Amino acid sequence: MAGFSKTLLCVACCCLCFLSVSSLLERLEHPVKDDGSLSFVVIGDWGRKGKYNQSQVALQMGRVGERINIDFVISTGDNFYDGGLTSANDPVFEKSFTKIYTAKSLQKKWYNVLGNHDYRGNVEAQLDPLFERIDRRWICKRSFIVDTEIAEFFFVDTTPFVDKYFLKPKHHTYDWRGVLPRKEYLSKLLQDVDLALKESTANWKIVVGHHTIRSIGHHGDTNELVQQLLPIIEENNVDMYINGHDHCLQHISSTSSQIQFLTSGGGSKSWKGDLDELNRKGLKFYYDGQGFMSVELKQSIAKIVFYDIFGKTLHALNLFKGVDSAM
Ligand SMILES: *[C@@H]1O[C@H](CO)[C@@H](O)[C@H](O)[C@H]1NC(C)=O
Repeated sequence: MAGFSKTLLCVACCCLCFLSVSSLLERLEHPVKDDGSLSFVVIGDWGRKGKYNQSQVALQMGRVGERINIDFVISTGDNFYDGGLTSANDPVFEKSFTKIYTAKSLQKKWYNVLGNHDYRGNVEAQLDPLFERIDRRWICKRSFIVDTEIAEFFFVDTTPFVDKYFLKPKHHTYDWRGVLPRKEYLSKLLQDVDLALKESTANWKIVVGHHTIRSIGHHGDTNELVQQLLPIIEENNVDMYINGHDHCLQHISSTSSQIQFLTSGGGSKSWKGDLDELNRKGLKFYYDGQGFMSVELKQSIAKIVFYDIFGKTLHALNLFKGVDSAM
């Protein structure tokens, strides 16, 4: 009995510590170009040792990266198929990353979130800073902020939000170390994201996560995020929500706010013809092949372009910011 209450006490203590520690969002800084602008490419759902056109996408990313002089790369997760990384020595890291994205323009920081497939491996290994020593580009964290002078990026760990991974993981096991107790983790994470967004004075606010919020693709909308994350990003004037998970390229405009939902999940295997025609509200563009996306940010304009594996532009959009008296 004494042992039991001691355990309870410890659990309570841990929860308290957990809840009172500083933000779950580590803050990093990245400089902008001399003219104050910033550009990057976004890829998702990619690591398959070059197969399924991964190498072709990499080649075109390199070319676009060169042309728009990118500052970094964003990965929307599912970095290593089929089950993440096994250890900090896993050769898959080099086979699916280092040896694939070899273009000069891609030798920049890569800001990675984890996808559900990464959670099937050894998550602590994929987050291990050891990889930064093997390949200096690699930055992977659960949730974090990249602060640049022109924009603030909020990377959110979305996998733990999805109920089905917890309810009946029939064929897969997930590595939930570090995110339990789940309820506390999620509420702290949402609170921290909300606070960070409220405190942000950035011109552009961009949220990145693996899972969709809005999508007409195979997985469709992620209801847990629609209910829990979307209200927070809508309330805080976020400009873009960027995700992967559905293996396609996609642009959906919110019908209730200025948010643009941008899916870049075409890094390797794509799902041809797998879409939900009934969910088209706000749909501007959908492509069910492979490719990637680029973003060029200036104070008053964001240029977003989607490309296929030949480097051809499939869709482009411009977002504008009111130039106010301060400028
Ligand atoms: C590679 O891309 C081409 C052009 O989109 C497509 O026809 C082909 O099926 C793709 N290959 C694989 C293995 O996905």
